Amino acid sequence: MEVKTIAVVGAGTMGAGIAQVAAAAGFKVILSDVAPEIVEKALSRIRESLERLAAKGKLRGSVEEVLGRIETVTGYSGMEGVDLVIEAIVEDIEKKKALFKELDQICRPEAVFCSNTSGLSITEMASATRRPDKVIGTHFFNPVPVMQLVEVIRGEETSDETYSLAVKVCEKMGKTVITVKEAPLFVVNRILVPMINEAIFVLQEGIASAEDIDKGMKLGANHPIGPLALADLIGLDVLLMVMETLYRETGDSKYRPAPLLRKMVRAGHLGRKTGRGFYRYN
Ligand code: 3HC
Repeated sequence: MEVKTIAVVGAGTMGAGIAQVAAAAGFKVILSDVAPEIVEKALSRIRESLERLAAKGKLRGSVEEVLGRIETVTGYSGMEGVDLVIEAIVEDIEKKKALFKELDQICRPEAVFCSNTSGLSITEMASATRRPDKVIGTHFFNPVPVMQLVEVIRGEETSDETYSLAVKVCEKMGKTVITVKEAPLFVVNRILVPMINEAIFVLQEGIASAEDIDKGMKLGANHPIGPLALADLIGLDVLLMVMETLYRETGDSKYRPAPLLRKMVRAGHLGRKTGRGFYRYN
């Protein structure tokens, strides 16, 4: 099958980024979320990012051409004709299963379902459909237009055909793929997220200031940004959910989320997206 039309369900930071790189690669994109304000906001973020890329000559075609390939919808409008779906909704296994179950009724039987989950079970999501062989993980990284990697995760039933198709689609989007067996948090987050959690423990214990922790990791370990600034970029709510998955799935106390992380999420300080996390943003 040749993929021409991709539906991206969930127009948050990741969904918007995925819709952007898919449209920039020439795919026709349907970007969907529950409310029109959410998709409108996503579209303006996409325009801003495309303009930055175009200004540097890093965009094939014009900003308007790329935007012209993105149709924004609410709900499941237009989903019956798509070749491939990438879900980027909230990190909640029950919500993801409910979404795939619904889409399974609406989409063509040949359509492939991809999940951008940060670490939940692809096999479990696939079990909610009548096409478990056509369900796969395609995990992008934030900010999607800049980050090179996609982890491709095969569930228990994922077919070779689905795997090859997912790799081809990601490569057409200009990404480099690593192949991962299903396991909690896959590869990159399994290593990265506990490191960020540890940085939050270091802050919580008063060992150093946020600025000095980040300066330490930038200058001492050559990280492009410090772990606390990265936490703000990822979103503290996402980070907490991801860390909780690892803790729950392994039952290993070394993966317990830092209490300070939990407290900040409860206070609504989620990082860049709310203007306040470990740092303040305008
Ligand atoms: N769209 C287009 N271009 C963008 C962009 C966007 N959304 N965000 C950044 N850029 C471009 C800038 O224009 C700039 O381009 P230039 O070098 O050609 O001028 C370049 O990226 C660098 O941006 P800035 O100068 O604004 O800022 P930084 O130097 O801090 O770089 C960064 C930004 C690339 C995000 C860098 O800080 C970085 O690499 N951070 C680490 C990101 C990371 O680790 N992400 C993974 C998170 S984990 C994850 O996503 C998994 C999830 O499941 C939790």
